[in-house]
Formats: sequence, C-alpha cells, structure tokens
Amino acid sequence: MTAALPYANGLLHLGHLAGAYLPADIYVRYQRAKKRDILFLCGSDEHGVAITVTAEKEKITPQAVVDRYHSLNKASFEEFGMSFDNYSRTSLPLHHKTSQEFFAEFHRRGVLKEKEEQQLYCEKDKMFLADRYVEGTCPNCKYPEARGDQCENCGTWLNQTELIEPKCKICGTTPIVRTTSHWYFPLGQFQTRLEAYIKERSERDGWKENVLRYCASWFKEGLQDRAVTRDLSWGVPVPVAGYESKVLYVWFDAVLGYISSGKEWAGRTPNPDAWKDFWLGPDTKYVAFIGKDNVVFHCIVFPAMLMAWNDAGREQYVLPENVPANEFLNFEGQKFSKSRGWGIDLQNFLNHFPADPLRYTLAVNLPESRDSDFYMKDFQARTNNELADILGNFINRTLAFTEKNFGGKVPAAGTLSERDREMIRTIAEAPGTVGGLYERYKFRDGVIESMNLARAANKYFNDSQPWKTLKADPGQCATTLNICLQVVRSLAIIYEPVIPAIALRMWGTLGLEGTPSAAGWESAAALGLQSGHQLNKAEILVAKIEDEAIDPIVKSLSEPPVQEVPKQAPEVKPLITLDDFKKVELKLAKVIAAERVPKSEKLLKIQVEIGSEKRQVVAGIAQHYKPEDLVGKLIVVVANLQPAKLMGQESQGMLLAATDSAGKLAVLTVADSLESGAPIK
Ligand code: MF3
Ligand code: ZN
Repeated sequence: MTAALPYANGLLHLGHLAGAYLPADIYVRYQRAKKRDILFLCGSDEHGVAITVTAEKEKITPQAVVDRYHSLNKASFEEFGMSFDNYSRTSLPLHHKTSQEFFAEFHRRGVLKEKEEQQLYCEKDKMFLADRYVEGTCPNCKYPEARGDQCENCGTWLNQTELIEPKCKICGTTPIVRTTSHWYFPLGQFQTRLEAYIKERSERDGWKENVLRYCASWFKEGLQDRAVTRDLSWGVPVPVAGYESKVLYVWFDAVLGYISSGKEWAGRTPNPDAWKDFWLGPDTKYVAFIGKDNVVFHCIVFPAMLMAWNDAGREQYVLPENVPANEFLNFEGQKFSKSRGWGIDLQNFLNHFPADPLRYTLAVNLPESRDSDFYMKDFQARTNNELADILGNFINRTLAFTEKNFGGKVPAAGTLSERDREMIRTIAEAPGTVGGLYERYKFRDGVIESMNLARAANKYFNDSQPWKTLKADPGQCATTLNICLQVVRSLAIIYEPVIPAIALRMWGTLGLEGTPSAAGWESAAALGLQSGHQLNKAEILVAKIEDEAIDPIVKSLSEPPVQEVPKQAPEVKPLITLDDFKKVELKLAKVIAAERVPKSEKLLKIQVEIGSEKRQVVAGIAQHYKPEDLVGKLIVVVANLQPAKLMGQESQGMLLAATDSAGKLAVLTVADSLESGAPIK
C-alpha cells in the first residue's frame, strides 16, 4: 500500500488527511488485523519548482526547506497515528539512484524521445522558467494566475509559451522565448494498453466512479508525449551527457519514490531484497491511495512507466490494482488555501485535541464520491454525541457495573434469551459487514456501521435493564454483563482501524494482553473473554470537548477569505450606442470542415462557409469539441474582425461561444436551417 508522497513544502492540513492518508491508514490497519502481509509506504516529495520558489523567498537552500517540512510532517503523521512501515524522502541518494536507473533504462532502450522546444527564459535570472516559475493569463479561461504547466482555474494543461503576458515568478519581468531540448516519455504509445489495464482492474477490484471518469476524460482527449526533464538545478540529475544543467521532472521521480521507500525499508530488515517480495511479487495486490488531483499520475503515468520497464522482460513490477482517490475536503465551507490562509494545519489541530476524535470525524465525512466539509462544531458534536455518549458511555457503564457488582471479573453467562442471542448474532456479523465495506474502499460506511454497533450495544444494555435483573434475576444479569463485555472486546477490534489509540485503551481496560489487531479481525465475531477473567478499572475513554475549547479556534482562524469572485463574472462595461454595436458584423456561418491545429491542445482550425464566401477561423475550443462534432453546424461569427495568426494559422474571423464559471464552454449555434451568410442583428 502507498499513500501519495506529500510535498515537503508546507504543513499537512486536514484536507490531505481526508484525501488520502486516513483512508489508507484505515485500510492498512484493517488488512493487518486480517493478518495479511502488508507493506505501507510513504515519504516526502522533496523536488519540484514550488520548493525552490519557497527557498528563494526565504533565502535558504531547497534542502533546508525540505529538511524542515519533512521532519515536521513526519512527526505530525506519527501523532495522527499513521502506521507507515517506512516514511522516506526523495532527496535520499537511494532514491536518486532508483529514478536514474529508470530514466537510463528508458533512454538506453530508445523509449524516450528527445525534442527541441520553445521555452520561456528569464534574462535577468539567467534561467529557463519551468512550470511554476512562470505565471500568466490562461489562454483558455483568462484566469490571470495560470502556471506554466497548468491553469489551476480551468484545469487545462498548458504549454507555457501559450500563456498570455507571462511573467517570471522570481523577478516579475517578461521572459523571452528560447530553444531548449528535453526528453519525452511517449505516453500516447501506451494509451491502448492503459485503457485495457484500467478496464481489467476496475472490473476485478471495483474502481471508484470518480476515478474512472477522470481517466476516461484523459483518454478521450488522447494521451500526449510528456517531457520528463526540466531546466532546473534542484531535483534528480539527468543521467545523460549534455543534460548536466537539467533534472528529471518531479513527477517522474516522485512516483518512483514509492519503490525507493520500499528499498529503504528493506535496508533496515535482515534481507535487503525484501522489497522485491512486494514490488516484484506476482501475487502482490498494490493499492495506491491519493487525492483526486493526482489521478492522472497514478492511473496513467506511473502504470505506463512500469509497463515500459516491464517490457524489457526482466523484473516485473506490480501495477496498481486500485487507485481509490478521494475528492476534496472543505474547511468550514471553504476550500483549504495556503495562500489565502484558510484552514488549520494538522499539528496545530493536534496541539489542541487528540488524534482519534479527529480521525473519527474525518472518517464519517470523507469526500469519497464528492467534495465534503469539515466543521469544528461537527467535530465537537461527533466527539461528544457519538464517541463519548454512545461508544464511550457503553464501555464505561459496562465496566463500572461489572466492577461494582461482579468484583471486576467477567461473570459467567447462563441461559440465553432471544435478546441475548440477537446481540451475539449482531456481533458475529460485524467483522464481515464492516470488513466488506473496507475491502470495497467504503470507509465512511464502514465507520458509520461501526458506530451503529455501539448504538446497538447501548440499546441492548438499556433493554436488558441489568440494574433491575441484578436482584430479580441474577442469572440473567450475569449473562447480560458477560455479553456486554464480549461486545466491548469486539468493538476494540472493529474500531482499531479508525481510532487506534482509544481501541488500545479499551483493550487495556479489559485487562487483555497485546493489541486488538493482533487478536485478528475475525476474532471480533467470537465471544473471546473467559468467565472469571479479571478486568482493569474503568476509565473515561473519550473526553468531551467543551465550547470553550472550540470557540477560540474558530475565532483564531483568520476571517474567512472573501469567496473568490467567479473568474468569469461578466465585467460591467459602459453603455454603447446602437451605432457602436452595428460596427460588429455578425453573420451566420456553416462549418464545412474542422481539424485540430498540430501541437496545440486548444486550437481547432475550422473552415466555414459564409454565403458564397469560404473562410478559415481558428478557435480555442479543442478541449470542448471534437472537430467532427462541429461539421454541419450553423454558428455565429464576427465577420469583420481583423485577421490574426494563432500558432502560425491564419484566422479570418471569430466564432461566438459562452464559457461559464466552471470553465464549461458552448459554441453558439442556430437550430433552424437558415442560409449561411444571413446577417445577425
Ligand atoms: N507531492 C504530490 C502532491 O502532494 C504527490 C506525489 S505522489 C507521488 O500532490 F506519487 F508522486 F509520490
Ligand atoms: Zn485556465
């Protein structure tokens, strides 16, 4: 199992936990209790431009940046209860070597292609501006802060030279265009195999709808070659002559971090090759936990890289069996944002509250199929009304009653009533029910189901009225308490994946040795306590959270940032006269032919007929329309626009289209059949 390697460029926040880490940890802890042979790997992603930008801002080295965040994040993860077998870092020599081996292998076998390309170069900083070193206006949605590799607003992958008014992020000057060369991974060549791979695995292991949707849209667009080198100095050096001033693209090395994390782990064991049992094991089941923004890298790029390695016919790496990516978690109704200062980082949270109530609240709010929300008030309510009042209360009253009336020893059960049998049946089914949900990556439902068990147990205690049977029917009273104690033991096992620290204390209170997970998941179905077994003293397992503890935190959050104005908000323009409007010559045009503009992800070249006249119009709509979908349509064009050249193609006019705030685009068409050339007024 792997969980996405977080960037060592900032602190972890609750959104990260809900996206990937908590589901991964619940899954792993559950699988360990099932006695499966698990290796759970993670580590810090320590390369990439964002880290060098931070270093420049703070006037320290990139290494100092990653050293700081690696140790802070590692410690917060531990306190949160993440049970990684290894937490590595991509700046380790072992990782550099692993990444270089992959690159060199692909290079030697001719998998990679070298291409010359136009890149933005800052003459002041004397460097090429890779990825996030450059910012400009998105050619697709006009968002003014689009990065060189991707527009955050509309999600479009950009070629940095397409940015409108690009600016160097370091000095703010306008860069020039220069030629450089890079090595490309031929992702397009793998498309057919990738589609077959995803189809096969999703049928076998049930991939999530949201993940399949993302993959389908990538395939629909068509996979393109991807540059896997960058003109940067921070990163894994490219092991090819002539590339001394370049490094591997951060995503090329990051995904391989999972493998080097396994190697690092094995290095600590008696068998340094032990990682191979997992990564190269023919019967390994590999599950990669990530957030939705990482889907393309884990479902497409990484599998393609492993396929390319496996093609040599030597070691066969195992491909992800599933990539159960979650959507995003909002905080108090708004997106987490480092730049806008919204949200709360994990360590800050843990300085105020223990980890388990946080794990529980996140778990019941996981954004498994759509974005979800975390509210501090909900955290308080879940802790107090569910963890404390249902689970904690049941355990506490069971132990307190036994202590008071049975000398703290498990009383022997007598004849079972129908109610007793019902409770025993419920518990016997629990590991299968909850485990089945976990196996299918339905963590929210599994945790909600776990709480239902505690609810059923509380009801059983109430309905059995042991405080009454104590005198009236002591045999029944002993039976009730015996069963309640058995249920406490089962609950400790069932709850261990989500609230491991509380589960361990439950185990200790019962006077049991070892840990709940060592007892084994299935043993939660059994009545595992011997009568006469000595229990420990009852203690409060879950402390309630007072308003006074929550309110200052809610207040200490900076004022909620102003909701971003929708980027597409129509600007209010001054009034114009009819004569002004008449200057625009709008005409109906019929699409005769359309094709993609080579090397452009956005542009379509469209041949239109305007009455008897033929014209060519170039439009940035390739991500919204297939060329063939447009042919035959009656569209609206501005016929008297000055001709312009876009990516070397002449455009003699402009078509009209609408874009909404979500970036969805629709070309204006006329449904009735009118003659082309008809004027529009
Ligand atoms: N650092 C990336 C992020 O936080 C995730 C990297 S996952 C890996 O989005 F596969 F590349 F390791
Ligand atoms: Zn954009």
